[in-house]
Amino acid sequence: MKHLISIKDLTQTQLLDLLKLAAEIKADPAKYSRALAGKSVVMLFEKPSLRTRVSFNIGINKLGGHCLYLDQQNGALGKRESVQDFASNLSCWADAIVARTFAHETVQGLAEHGSVPVINALSDLYHPCQGLADFQSLAEHFDDLSKVRLAFVGDGNNVCHSLMYGAALLGARMTVICPPGHFPDGFEVQQAQRIAREHGGEIVLTSDVNAIEGHDAIYTDTWISMGDSTSLADIKAKFAPYQVNKALMEKAGASHFMHCLPAHRGVEVTDEVMDGEGSLILTQAENRMHAQNAVLVTLLG
Ligand code: CP
Ligand code: NVA
Repeated sequence: MKHLISIKDLTQTQLLDLLKLAAEIKADPAKYSRALAGKSVVMLFEKPSLRTRVSFNIGINKLGGHCLYLDQQNGALGKRESVQDFASNLSCWADAIVARTFAHETVQGLAEHGSVPVINALSDLYHPCQGLADFQSLAEHFDDLSKVRLAFVGDGNNVCHSLMYGAALLGARMTVICPPGHFPDGFEVQQAQRIAREHGGEIVLTSDVNAIEGHDAIYTDTWISMGDSTSLADIKAKFAPYQVNKALMEKAGASHFMHCLPAHRGVEVTDEVMDGEGSLILTQAENRMHAQNAVLVTLLG
């Protein structure tokens, strides 16, 4: 494993090893407190962030490493300087690059032109660090991830893509329920379905909200991702039946609710579900750090 660009690039063994290591780091952080000693990580963000920025920064510190946050104030990626020159210069000093970008091609360009590992901290196509933390969170409640029935409801976005690849590699059955016209990218669906078949799993897509029945965990995300200029007023009515509320959770028979956050309370999910007993949102947020630290230790340790 040279980079973490997408979960789809991992083998099933690599994914399971990362999840195992993430759980070990969570259980015994002291054992890893020097894992990144002497290493420096640059964090390059084109978009805002709370969880990703803070969990990488504090996580790298807990591993004994050092990190440097770069926003766009000193020149936007590819504008003041090409992505190629950003990557080659950063590789002179940093041991790894963590990047949150608009275009997925930018993360790929950093990996192509740099000489150090690149970790995708969210692009318009994928959010692999989120997916890893999410499956780590599910593993804390379900012994066999291949048997977890996960449903993603809402916009078929970057988070949905990463969850589909994770479920596919784990050989699980995942249902993706989206309003017409808001399905995940067709190419990503085909790839995920192929990987799922290879591992005895299945990715099912539908617009029928009734398909929510019979799931263990219901996952949703914002209806409008960063960089998407769609106005909420234009899509609210279309997405309304896909809101995760108490009635939908009961219809699903689901024990757990998941959201990558930030959430829009009262829009894609109600307060009652967000703050309810089966909500995993803060476990997911905490596990962002452990899962990312597992990636860093694997790439740099
Ligand atoms: N879930 C997540 O990536 O949150 P941030 O956008 O706050 O980093
Ligand atoms: N799909 C969301 C995830 C935010 C963490 C976005 O890309 O904005």
